[in-house]
Amino acid sequence: MTIEIINTGVNKIYCEDCLDTMSRMPDNFIDLTVTSPPYDNLRAYRGYSFDFENIAQELYRVTNCGGVVVWVVGDATIRGSETGTSFKQALYFKEIGFNLHDTMIYQKSGAGAVGSNKCYLQNFEYMFIFTKGKINTFNLIHDRKNKRVGSMLTNTKRCNHTVETGRKHRRITAKEYGKRFNLWKYATGKNTTSKDKVAFNHPAVFPEQLVNDHIISWSNKGDLIYDPFMGSGTTAKMAVLNNRCYIGSEVSEKYCGIIETRIKGIRGC
Ligand SMILES: C[S@@+](CC[C@H](N)C(=O)[O-])C[C@H]1O[C@@H](n2cnc3c(N)ncnc32)[C@H](O)[C@@H]1O
Repeated sequence: MTIEIINTGVNKIYCEDCLDTMSRMPDNFIDLTVTSPPYDNLRAYRGYSFDFENIAQELYRVTNCGGVVVWVVGDATIRGSETGTSFKQALYFKEIGFNLHDTMIYQKSGAGAVGSNKCYLQNFEYMFIFTKGKINTFNLIHDRKNKRVGSMLTNTKRCNHTVETGRKHRRITAKEYGKRFNLWKYATGKNTTSKDKVAFNHPAVFPEQLVNDHIISWSNKGDLIYDPFMGSGTTAKMAVLNNRCYIGSEVSEKYCGIIETRIKGIRGC
């Protein structure tokens, strides 16, 4: 079965529990996982179980040395308290060997923000970036416009607030665009999350641009991308469009149908 996955099993969606798919993968197989688990029963996924600890351990085993797992998650509020599940999961990933490389934020545009009348409106999720050992690939996106551009001397302020410039100071060259901050903001909703109408038959579609940005940041062309909770198929679609290979698991037959429709005709890598 393992041989089957290696030779012919990529660029496929497995309509099954992700633990079954991963059980057929060899160690150190996946370069990048981009996923969002079913969290805190925020949405009822047709009653399927979610065995977090075993899934995390299997993800560690199948992730390549230097590979990355992007885990996008939020918390439910139950009886007046946020569950904190996202933090518990992040600490568990660390306990089993992953490095917590970065805690990033996915900020949603205002539309659809939720919350009780005693709290500010909730409009973000965590994007935990885990690495197995020293990270292999980091093609960081430089799209933050710098205020000052070109060659300049660095200044130091004296205690009396006068500014000193001179030979002792370092000359730096600021490019037009600098490295992005780790809070990523995406417009959410129909036509912005995705233009694929069929995708919205799933209740929790990733913004395509979010997945795109992680794929180009943490993988190279030809790498193998996995999503154990493929949902409507966003990770597969963006992997193909970026010339990466993919594998996906999705336990619901209904959602597997959405994925098939969505990625029909764009087979890649
Ligand atoms: C948050 S959604 C993922 C949405 C996805 N990111 C997208 O863009 O459409 C989680 C998905 O995981 C699926 N799921 C839940 N438990 C699973 C399991 N054990 N194995 C595989 N899929 C599972 C659910 O059916 C659901 O579609």
